[in-house]
Amino acid sequence: MSDLTVAVVGATGAVGRVMRDLLSERSFPIGELRLMASERSAGTVIETGYGAIEVEDLATADPAGIDIALFSAGGDRSRQYAPTFAQAGAIVIDNSSAFRMDRSVPLVVADVNDEAARRHNGIIANPNCTTMVLMMAVAPLHRAAGLQGMVATSYQSVSGTGNSAIAELRDQVEWFARSPQALIDGGWEAPDHSVFTRPIGWNVLPFAGNLVEDGYTDEEMKLQNESRKILDVPELLVEPTCVRVPTLVGHGISASLWFRDPLTPDQAAKLIDEAPGVQVWMDQVATPLDSAGIDDVLVSRIRRTLGEQGGVSLWAVGDNLRKGAALNAIQIAELFL
Ligand code: A2P
Repeated sequence: MSDLTVAVVGATGAVGRVMRDLLSERSFPIGELRLMASERSAGTVIETGYGAIEVEDLATADPAGIDIALFSAGGDRSRQYAPTFAQAGAIVIDNSSAFRMDRSVPLVVADVNDEAARRHNGIIANPNCTTMVLMMAVAPLHRAAGLQGMVATSYQSVSGTGNSAIAELRDQVEWFARSPQALIDGGWEAPDHSVFTRPIGWNVLPFAGNLVEDGYTDEEMKLQNESRKILDVPELLVEPTCVRVPTLVGHGISASLWFRDPLTPDQAAKLIDEAPGVQVWMDQVATPLDSAGIDDVLVSRIRRTLGEQGGVSLWAVGDNLRKGAALNAIQIAELFL
């Protein structure tokens, strides 16, 4: 098959760039690749593995003839344009949160619940990047032992918030480097910001996303609600905390997990290692830098829970732009080849 027409919507963004690269890296069979973004980028020419392509303005682009549309241009754009693209005949794989909890839209982690993708009505949702990474480690354990509850804390890189957040971290690191002693003694001067309300350079923000209910953020509610939907455990107990850290790529999650049938750390390590798309690193601790630019999720520090007995604690880290977003979207598309 070599005549598919594929559109990348949000093609100039942090995830869109990785989508473009991965399509050609994975030799996705494309007859015509179309790139769409805002009016600001329309007319820009981008070199791709499928030739030099001019970016179209999403607002005026004609969706006729598109077979697969990969959307990563924010929830508002997805809500406005994804249904139109689907009606025009495209299978839309949407990286935003717009449709994830819609009962008629499958929420798919490739290699975890591929079968759900077949039940689509034109739109398939790509999960949140933190949930995606954690599910790669947790799903093999759930299948064997029945997950009942988890306490999960994320350490999320700034690229999860897009290109502007990458720029803000870089600028603030430079800003603080001018007077590093103030970071130790106090008296630092607040840098400019437009993305994060508190400084992210040389700092940690114990609050990722926007406040939605009972003191929890939307990122935290996604971790609960999307995990329940993907694993098909509506009553799953999830205690989430989402933290933004000053890394560029790679979301880490520290999780303690309790199962219907208790698992030993050795059993857990074996189950994870045998699953596709995930590696166990026991001799060396896997860090966000190790995960950057690779497809697999890495899992370290698998150990017995110390307080509430019978569970397993672990650390999982994955490239949020790849498996956490672009790679998973393309893996879903590959299910339809
Ligand atoms: P543009 O670069 O033209 O603004 P990121 O997540 O890195 O911030 O990227 C967001 C992506 O979504 C970019 O490709 C951006 O295009 C696109 N985008 C943002 N707003 C719009 C819009 N109103 N219409 C179409 N695309 C948009």
